[in-house]
Amino acid sequence: MKTRITELFGIEHPIIQGGMHFVGFAEMAAAVSNAGGLGIITGLTQRTPEDLAKEIARCRDMTDKPFGVNLTFLPGLATPDYPGYVKAIIDGGVKAVETAGNNPVKWLPALKEAGIKVIHKCTAVRHSLKAEAIGCDAVSVDGFECGGHPGEDDVPNWILLPRAAEELKIPFVASGGVANGKQLVAALALGAEGVNMGTRFIATKEAPVHENVKQAILRATELDTRLVMRPLRNTERVLTNPAVERLIAKEKELGANIKFEDIIAEVAGVYPKIMMDGDMDAGAWSCGMVVGLIHDIPTCKELIDGMMAEAEAIIRKRLPGFL
Ligand SMILES: Cc1cc2nc3c(=O)[nH]c(=O)nc-3n(C[C@H](O)[C@H](O)[C@H](O)COP(=O)(O)O)c2cc1C
Repeated sequence: MKTRITELFGIEHPIIQGGMHFVGFAEMAAAVSNAGGLGIITGLTQRTPEDLAKEIARCRDMTDKPFGVNLTFLPGLATPDYPGYVKAIIDGGVKAVETAGNNPVKWLPALKEAGIKVIHKCTAVRHSLKAEAIGCDAVSVDGFECGGHPGEDDVPNWILLPRAAEELKIPFVASGGVANGKQLVAALALGAEGVNMGTRFIATKEAPVHENVKQAILRATELDTRLVMRPLRNTERVLTNPAVERLIAKEKELGANIKFEDIIAEVAGVYPKIMMDGDMDAGAWSCGMVVGLIHDIPTCKELIDGMMAEAEAIIRKRLPGFL
């Protein structure tokens, strides 16, 4: 399939694996890229720019296909060494960067000068237009159903994608809630030129996470995610568990007075415990409503080939039958 997204990133299929904390290691990115999508290493999961440089080199050993790096600008207690991470990306010869969380304008000149294509993740049309205006090459339009941070507007992709299509000139992908070929075709119909998937890629053979995480995704239904940290205007969609229910109880109890320190036990430093150790009740971890559509653990190639075959069958056989 050829779209402006496959052309922009030099990939075979219009499927991107979004940056995921403690999931987006070289193994994950390489598996997606080897399957013809765009795999993405999560920059900030690497503790230092030097570690990121090593991870990029490891990924290059595992694939000769294009892959990218995610740079997340989120409100944090300490500011990471962003100039160092950007330098590691440029020196590592990476040609695609997914930015998220905040306006990436400060880093665009250096990235663009190095010939890097930038796709910025946005949860609103106004942010997407800003990304276009500052020179981003593409946008990942992340709907309310997404795993991770859906923003504060709560607009689902059924509305957000066609709204983006009304306004944007640069290409965009549908992010949030995607797991199969039907949705890829729907995304194309709504004006997107591909899809970005997070949660779906965690339940793959190559995802370098504990088996408990994959089994939790298989067990969960579309009713099992919760929104947390809304009172802090840092809303995150997570899979429910006892820690998440505790967190929600604190939010109810403390109301508008809640501070980050009140919930630190449920959210800070939990990713390694969950993703590496498989301690599924350690805290809140990002997960999309799309868990309801995930029923197997294929390889990335089986997943992507299956999605493309399903999409092609719908486009060639089902849709023409309606005309
Ligand atoms: C476990 C997990 C961790 C994530 N970590 C990040 C991150 O560090 N930076 C980021 O930009 N997005 C992150 N995301 C969001 C994904 O890149 C992607 O936008 C989102 O998962 C899409 O929604 P979906 O899960 O419904 O496919 C994360 C998502 C998950 C599920």
